[in-house]
Amino acid sequence: MKILLLGSGGREHALAWKMAQSAQCETLYVAPGNGGTEQGKIHNVALSPTDFPAVEAFVRQEGVQMVVVGPEDPLVKGVYDYFQQHCPEVPVIGPSQEGAQLEGSKDFAKQFMLRHGIPTAQYQTFDGEHVEEGIQFLRTLQAPYVLKADGLCAGKGVLILPTLEEAEKELREMLGGMFGTASSRVVIEEFLSGIECSVFVLTDGENYKILPEAKDYKRIGEGDTGLNTGGMGSVSPVAFATPEWMHKVEEEIIRPTVEGLKAEGICYKGFIFFGLINCDGQPKVIEYNCRMGDPETETVMLRLKSDLVDLLQGVAEGTLGERSIAFDERPAVCVMLVSGGYPGSYPKGIAMHGVEPTMNGGETILFHAGTALKDGQLVTNGGRVIAVSSYGQTHAEALQRSMKAAEQISFDGKYYRRDIGQDLVK
Ligand code: AMP
Ligand code: GLY
Repeated sequence: MKILLLGSGGREHALAWKMAQSAQCETLYVAPGNGGTEQGKIHNVALSPTDFPAVEAFVRQEGVQMVVVGPEDPLVKGVYDYFQQHCPEVPVIGPSQEGAQLEGSKDFAKQFMLRHGIPTAQYQTFDGEHVEEGIQFLRTLQAPYVLKADGLCAGKGVLILPTLEEAEKELREMLGGMFGTASSRVVIEEFLSGIECSVFVLTDGENYKILPEAKDYKRIGEGDTGLNTGGMGSVSPVAFATPEWMHKVEEEIIRPTVEGLKAEGICYKGFIFFGLINCDGQPKVIEYNCRMGDPETETVMLRLKSDLVDLLQGVAEGTLGERSIAFDERPAVCVMLVSGGYPGSYPKGIAMHGVEPTMNGGETILFHAGTALKDGQLVTNGGRVIAVSSYGQTHAEALQRSMKAAEQISFDGKYYRRDIGQDLVK
């Protein structure tokens, strides 16, 4: 089978690596891909994932039989619906535009959770006409204050403010157009404290399979300090996600979500990312995403033993319930190597050395996040550059392997955290 994967980051390289292992995968195209996704049966295609007519033309020209969507942008813009209308014979793995609202609109997600009794933070939504009501609502809450722009903001739309004064000021700015139309409505919600965990589900709209859980590390600095980033690393499994806790997650969150989508007639055939927080043993939803997480995918794919293409075919055919899923028991740790200056401004096009597909005798797999090939030389091409992902008998061993490989890779300005997963080890 010929498959087209849309996207260009570490998540997509990890998905491509896993799909290419399937005997059913004859050729895998990645659009636009990166410096790591041109290898063996994997080929880059210079296409924008949101240029749907161009994607359709490529699919027809090459006889692609399945389209898998990595990032949220094409989903929120309706790639699923576009193919349903123009090329219905080729399945798209990802939700419809309506289903993608779980990520595309914080207010939609909150209302959905409320309708289906799914545990989440208390909230209210305000628009530019109701700033004063928003301020009144803020005054009923305790510090810190959580403000969320309703629409997609590339991960920048959530503000957590320590004082009421700052929260009121930011609310006025957001509703005044700070994030453009994305913040024309703002969700104000109760602050939840606890450790976060990402749970991933693959669904055909009827049945679902739960993938290995993971935890990502968002801050640039060790000890979770400094600015937020796209993600500096991840681990899987997560110690506090015990079978009992996961049972709660399934019964109170996953099942009501899949059943709620179905009951509301919302077409959803793809990944659901549950951003959860553990509040004294009670899992609550912080956010939904309509795609896999990055850099969680880089550890989740290491731990998925089953044939991913087979599972995706189950999604496309509505027969996911008949497929089995198995995990590798070994822990996995991903350490992201980033460009100097990230998450602020950083240079691109820096020559890289020491990058192999695998290292440490195959125990470490390198997923490219922001790289490109320039005249045959691998260069940096983004803030997050390489996701160094390793297996170990323990988290500590997996981390050590990633550290060793991280040292062997060189590019000017290279930075990474050395403490990924350490907080979970007692
Ligand atoms: P989101 O874009 O919804 O993932 O939010 C970004 C981050 O903000 C989350 O990963 C959490 O760390 C934090 N966050 C969001 N909502 C809350 C909340 N209600 N309480 C505490 N932290 C939150
Ligand atoms: N790692 C969080 C995300 O992908 O949104």
